Amino acid sequence: MTEPFIKPRTGRAPHQPTPASTPEPANGGPEAGRMLVEARAAGRTYGSGEATVTALASATCRVAKGDRIALLGPSGSGKSTLLHLMGGLDAPTNGEITWPALGAWETLRPRQVAIVFQMPSLLAPLTVVENVEIPLLLGRVPAEAARHAALEALARLELTRIADKLPEELSGGQAQRVAVARALAYRPALILADEPTGQLDRATAQHLFDVLLDTLAGTDTALVVATHDLAAAERMDRVWRMRHGILEGEV
Ligand SMILES: Nc1ncnc2c1ncn2[C@@H]1O[C@H](COP(=O)(O)OP(=O)(O)OP(=O)(O)O)[C@@H](O)[C@H]1O
Ligand SMILES: [Mg+2]
Repeated sequence: MTEPFIKPRTGRAPHQPTPASTPEPANGGPEAGRMLVEARAAGRTYGSGEATVTALASATCRVAKGDRIALLGPSGSGKSTLLHLMGGLDAPTNGEITWPALGAWETLRPRQVAIVFQMPSLLAPLTVVENVEIPLLLGRVPAEAARHAALEALARLELTRIADKLPEELSGGQAQRVAVARALAYRPALILADEPTGQLDRATAQHLFDVLLDTLAGTDTALVVATHDLAAAERMDRVWRMRHGILEGEV
């Protein structure tokens, strides 16, 4: 199989952490250096007093390099909240989240963590291929190589023929698949995908998971995917279940 990802022009961007500044997991041991995300009693509440909403109760979990994790749970159970905390988009209101093998949260994007949002997330003035190559360009990949990787990722998802369209010309499902192509085009250490098949028919959803898992097979890139698709969840190594803001099945 051809190498699906390309490497940035320089080995290390100026803002990337130096090894010396990359903290080791507190517990050390053989897993040290493989731990991408560590949540310790991390929670997120909104509002205060009687109006307090607990979106995520104290969650303790870890994501290591190469993990394939499905996050299951009914609507409103806290899946997006947990993914956003793990991606450093939001901060916990109690407990803490650290990225032992990645460094401080400022360094997470665009190079290390790719997030496939539940909501539409394509930039309206840019074409599909431009949307896919944006993280590569921000990551200092030369323009030609970025375009090549973007087109390759689109081809994997059978989206070549819409490469020059604008987001407003896409169906909801096409836009979702473009967002997945954007995450795959670069080699992030961690992909957090929030219901990436929510708007897809069964066959297309299965194809998307085929592409995701095939592309990541044998790589260290970890995948955490929130989904209601039980068949897809069974293809992952681990399943986390959420209910009323409580993460079950992970200690
Ligand atoms: N900005 C916010 N302000 C107040 N409450 C919020 C906010 N964001 C989320 N919540 C609440 O937190 C809870 C968890 O929401 P979250 O979006 O994490 O659920 P989810 O499991 O992703 O649901 P879905 O499957 O519908 O996407 C819900 O009760 C939601 O109403
Ligand atoms: Mg959600």
